[in-house]
Parts: sequence; C-alpha cells; structure tokens
Amino acid sequence: AADMGGDLEKILLTAEQIDARLAQLAAQIDEEYRGRDLLLVGVLRGAVMTMADLSRKIRIPLEMDWMAVSSYGSGTKSSGVVRILKDLDTDIQGRNVLIVEDIIDSGLTLSWLRSNLLSRGPESVRIATTLRKPEAAKVAIDVDYVGFDIPNEFVVGYGLDYAERYRHLPFVGTLAPHVYGG
Ligand code: PRP
Ligand code: MN
Ligand code: MG
Repeated sequence: AADMGGDLEKILLTAEQIDARLAQLAAQIDEEYRGRDLLLVGVLRGAVMTMADLSRKIRIPLEMDWMAVSSYGSGTKSSGVVRILKDLDTDIQGRNVLIVEDIIDSGLTLSWLRSNLLSRGPESVRIATTLRKPEAAKVAIDVDYVGFDIPNEFVVGYGLDYAERYRHLPFVGTLAPHVYGG
C-alpha cells in the first residue's frame, strides 16, 4: 500500500528525514524571528503538509494564512504568469511574512508570489520550502529556509501531486515512468 501498487520507483526522503530537517528549520526560525511578528503564508495546495508539520515545530507566536495560485492561460507554468485563485485574508502591511512551500521547481511561482507580496508593503518576505530542485531553476530566487535540494526527478508525496494524487504520502518518492507515460 505504501508504494501505491507499484506507482513509485523509489523513496527519496523518508518521513523521519523530513521530520528531522523541518525541526532544524523550525529552530532556526524560532531564533531569527524571536521577538518579532511572524505570519506564515502557505501556498495551496502543495504546502499543506509542510505548513502543518513546520508550524507545529515552531515555538514562537505566529499567525497563518493561505493563498492559492495557478499558472495563467496555456496550462504550462513556464510562462511565470500567475493568477490568484484565493488571496490572503490578512493585510500584510508591516508584517513579517514567511511563505511556506512544498517545492521550488522552476522558481517561477515563488518569484511571482514574492514580488506580489512585496508590493503590499510588508516589513519582510522570506521563503521556507521543504524541497528545491536546483537543476530545474529558471529564475534565481533567494530562499532562506530549504529542507532538501533534490535531483531533477518527478517526485510526489508530502503534498506533491501527480494529477492530484499522492499528496497524502508521508514521504517523498519518485514516480515510476509507466505512471506518467514515460
Ligand atoms: C507546485 C508546487 C509549487 C510550484 C513549484 O504547485 O506546489 O507551488 O508547483 O513550481 P515552480 O517552481 O516551477 O513554479 P502546483 O502549481 O502544481 O499547485 P499545487 O500546489 O496545488 O499542486
Ligand atoms: Mn503548489
Ligand atoms: Mg501540483
């Protein structure tokens, strides 16, 4: 059951590895935001697991809000043009915003999101992500808290989907090519 009936090729990161690394990031966040305001902004839907697990390890006071974004038009996200499906409910003027993501792939989503949020007059905007694919980067982006740099492979689990499936897996695995027609 854990390998979804042969859909997975291999496990890249176990639940235990993710948990241990997020604990380190949370300790760093505790340190760096202590005595300051902190608003976590999760990017639906992939960031749900990271938000739930990272936030529960942070010991300083914080608030949470959510955005949902989607690439615009053509269906390919490589344009970097993003549409807001659900905006924040919070006015972030003067706030310390920490964007929470599951993965940075091309970087286009976050690059757009960061400048969008910066235009609203926050005190600061930083980024925390469980995964990053350095080889897939199409745009340079400063990321303050990175769980793991991973190879440019098709990964699912821990919030990451393929056609909306596999998000619930507690680990990160690579998808077998037969699943996506490879
Ligand atoms: C995925 C992932 C990131 C983004 C990264 O979201 O969760 O948000 O793509 O890709 P990029 O760095 O190339 O922009 P997706 O748009 O698939 O939506 P989802 O979170 O609902 O799965
Ligand atoms: Mn996403
Ligand atoms: Mg997705």
